[in-house]
Amino acid sequence: MRRKLIVANWKSNPESWREAKAILAPLKRTIKNLTKVEAIICPPAIFLPDSFTLISKTQRLSLGAQDAFWEPTGPYTGQVSAAMLRKAGAKYVILGHSERRALGENNGQTNLKIKAALKEGLRVIFCVGEKERDQHGFYLKTLKQQLEDGLKGIPRKWLADLVVAYEPVWSVGAKARRVDTPADFVEQAIFIKKVASGFIGNEAARKLPVLYGGSVSPKNASGFLSVGEADGLLVGRASLCADKFSDILRQANEAKSL
Ligand code: PGA
Repeated sequence: MRRKLIVANWKSNPESWREAKAILAPLKRTIKNLTKVEAIICPPAIFLPDSFTLISKTQRLSLGAQDAFWEPTGPYTGQVSAAMLRKAGAKYVILGHSERRALGENNGQTNLKIKAALKEGLRVIFCVGEKERDQHGFYLKTLKQQLEDGLKGIPRKWLADLVVAYEPVWSVGAKARRVDTPADFVEQAIFIKKVASGFIGNEAARKLPVLYGGSVSPKNASGFLSVGEADGLLVGRASLCADKFSDILRQANEAKSL
């Protein structure tokens, strides 16, 4: 059985470790009885060491970072490397998130980050998604380009640790126009696997976990996991509330693909 991967992207929240602890501590209890889910909490990097101590080897509860620099050490003011994040307790890292891209990250830089993180032994949650959905399917070109540029030149065996998150930009964050539909997600996931197969082969592409992200809430989570057959979810706003995130974890534990 493959566990659903439910990722909490806290972004630049909350402001203090005290508040972070109040979200994280209850999840330790929630996850105890949920054997079909892995919860991956991605707090701001500064909270990773304390989070690691708090969750201390709780099964099916892991930590991730929200970005990683490609050089391990050196004169790069403000950057935190994949190696540092791993040593601080991260097992996963979100890369290529649309909010990083909006700050200027390009496909080539995402590629360097993916390569460095996989080399370091982190599992990468590679985010792709179009800004606009057009009727003619031109947006698929954007997806293809992001995937091909992001995965270029990475040794195939490293890509065993790859997870892709499909996050249409128009459905992400407080300014989201609407949520995608589970039926649409099925199509995007097939397309993503098809493009990925050129890098990892058909068999690995079939198994590649593809998550849905963008305005996930307790109201729509089970739809994406059952009808949408998503391998997991990337949750932003709703992950900052322990009750809501626990609700989503429970739904994932119950979810049956149709
Ligand atoms: P959201 O964010 O759930 O608040 O839309 C998702 C994400 O950015 O990963």
